[in-house]
Amino acid sequence: MKELQTQPQHGLHGKITVPGDKSISHRGVMLGAISEGQTVLHHFLTAADCLSTLHAFQQLGVPIKRDGQTVTIEGVGLHGLKQPVRPLDMGNSGTTTRLIMGLLAGQAFDTKLIGDASLSKRPMRRVSEPLAEMGAHIDVSDGHLPATIHGSQLHAVDYHLKVASAQVKSALILAALQADKASIFVEKQPTRNHTEMMLKAFGAEIDCEPDEVTLTVHPAPKLTGMTLTIPGDMSSAAFFVTAASLVENSEIQLMDVGINKTRTGLLTILERMGGHVQVTNIRRHGEPLADIMVKSADLRPITIGSKEIPGVIDELPLVALLAAKANGVSKISGAGELRIKETDRIAVIVEEFKKMGIAIEEQPDGFVIDGTKPWHVTNPQLSSHGDHRIGMVMAIAALLVDEPLTLDGADSINISYPEFFNDLTKLL
Ligand code: S3P
Repeated sequence: MKELQTQPQHGLHGKITVPGDKSISHRGVMLGAISEGQTVLHHFLTAADCLSTLHAFQQLGVPIKRDGQTVTIEGVGLHGLKQPVRPLDMGNSGTTTRLIMGLLAGQAFDTKLIGDASLSKRPMRRVSEPLAEMGAHIDVSDGHLPATIHGSQLHAVDYHLKVASAQVKSALILAALQADKASIFVEKQPTRNHTEMMLKAFGAEIDCEPDEVTLTVHPAPKLTGMTLTIPGDMSSAAFFVTAASLVENSEIQLMDVGINKTRTGLLTILERMGGHVQVTNIRRHGEPLADIMVKSADLRPITIGSKEIPGVIDELPLVALLAAKANGVSKISGAGELRIKETDRIAVIVEEFKKMGIAIEEQPDGFVIDGTKPWHVTNPQLSSHGDHRIGMVMAIAALLVDEPLTLDGADSINISYPEFFNDLTKLL
């Protein structure tokens, strides 16, 4: 049980650098492992999820060393992975699980994947079924982990994705590298494109059409290791973007944050709500990055539908918090994917927000939130429900009340942001 900081007297001030991007850290290890030669990752995210990826590839026979936030990988090539002696433990990480399924589906050995209780409830057929169309054999008991991947000869496909999911798309891309000829994938909507961008930088041939949803993946690339500095994670910066917008008299700077346009949905939404956000010093090291300045603002309500969801999927609980202080009624719909994250994030946000007296209504695929109703704490014992992002959202929500609050399950924050409370303290 952690006591939370409530109502800071003078707002949030100062400058921080958030940790490395989670999606890019996972992919850096994976692509480094299947490349030829050395890959060095600087500003790697040393949180539990990315360590699950790192340990899995060590067990697949890849020499990997970590010194703080620097990871050095001696790549073994696309066909150099070895059968692990034990099942690979995916921990809590959906990204590790789904991407590794695509990569190992075309290897010459079988692998068993296991995960923690939350991950073992998350749907895996969304990956195993499209991979089966490429000739993969993956046994997912009941649609969930544990899973056994039987390494198979893969063939090319022309496939329209059924869900807007970067994890599913990435699994298919990694499988397509091992197919007999070029595969074509068409997404329902654009989703984060780190796999495509990074694979191209490592030497793969991937054609992305201007429609942003069609890509052609050519097989058997010569991937060459590289040195990469991972930008700050927009999804981690998002907690402080939200906090500084909502806590009166705040002005903060977030340095070196990745601003890939498939990830900046929160900034676009906040701008529409009347937020004060300035993105400066934009530059490119492979992925684009920038410094972000945020000041407190009076916010307008917002309506968000399915089109915008992929670009803000991990930040939707924060959008709900912004809406809970806006001067009207906000509606978020088309966000049914939230129900199959680390927790059912629609149900859990409604439960936790109600403890603070927030006027929020649960919808099958989102929320309706009336920001004009005053908050009143009805239960001061908040909970993360074991979900890292829920824990951090509630810690930010606590800054907006003046009664003592506690958070159960604060440890889960280590999944993506072990330094979260230290960084928050730096801004107080
Ligand atoms: C991720 C994709 C998203 C996101 C997750 C990371 C990735 O999941 O929610 O935190 O790195 O590809 P979905 O593919 O399920 O939308």
